[in-house]
Amino acid sequence: MYQIVATKVLAPTIKLFEIKAPMVAAKAQAGQFIILRVDEEGERIPLTIADYNRDAGTITTIFQEIGYTTKKLGALNEGDSLVDFVGPLGQASEIENFGRIVCVGGGVGVAPLYPITRALKEAGNEVISIIGARSKDLLILEDEMRSVSDTLLVATDDGSYGHKGFVTDLLKQVIEEKGDVKHVWAIGPVVMMRAVTGTTKPYEVPTIVSMNPIMVDGTGMCGACRVSVGNETKFACVDGPEFDGHLVDWDLAIRRLAIFKDEEKRAEAAASC
Ligand code: FES
Repeated sequence: MYQIVATKVLAPTIKLFEIKAPMVAAKAQAGQFIILRVDEEGERIPLTIADYNRDAGTITTIFQEIGYTTKKLGALNEGDSLVDFVGPLGQASEIENFGRIVCVGGGVGVAPLYPITRALKEAGNEVISIIGARSKDLLILEDEMRSVSDTLLVATDDGSYGHKGFVTDLLKQVIEEKGDVKHVWAIGPVVMMRAVTGTTKPYEVPTIVSMNPIMVDGTGMCGACRVSVGNETKFACVDGPEFDGHLVDWDLAIRRLAIFKDEEKRAEAAASC
């Protein structure tokens, strides 16, 4: 059993859980994820690793209560335990000293972006971070991202904090005004990541995205997490979750997510009967 040792509400519907899982914490690296099950009857859900503490043997994960299982998870308290907690899964981010890089995070995507940004900063990069949310109250990890960035810019859709508009407005500005951006990392909703790749493409700035499709086994066996990258089928759980954003088939990724959203609604309706 994997005990929840700390919880924190970061924003309405967004929670942070610190979970005791020493074997996972010993190996976790930026960019990887875990799969958990809340109880014996529960489905397996992938969650990104927002941080890890090897000494304490804990993994920090941040999630949004948007579906049946994440709501069930969010209802747990400090001291409760999870039945399964498997990881670290997926490939770690390829961290090196590129020079000037931009890390772009949207919504709950800022959580997995944080350890990657920290690792990039530690590798000697000049890090410009851009984080965004629909409104100020939904913005997470601002202080944490500032602490690992040379510059932090903020955008909110409604203008309640920082730039009024999208993270891509700020990204375009940074690329044009500062120039010499060697790499961009983008994690957030699929539409945001697609918009980021559309922004960087004309400037030919290599852009890494972290795909978050539905996952079942997390071992490359079930095929649920398949994405098309450069016209090849890849499994996000073993080949990813990070891919070259300019090669991702975004239309397909969005269509597949829409199918699973319908399934999720049916599961919630069935559970409430
Ligand atoms: Fe089954 Fe990736 S989750 S192949």
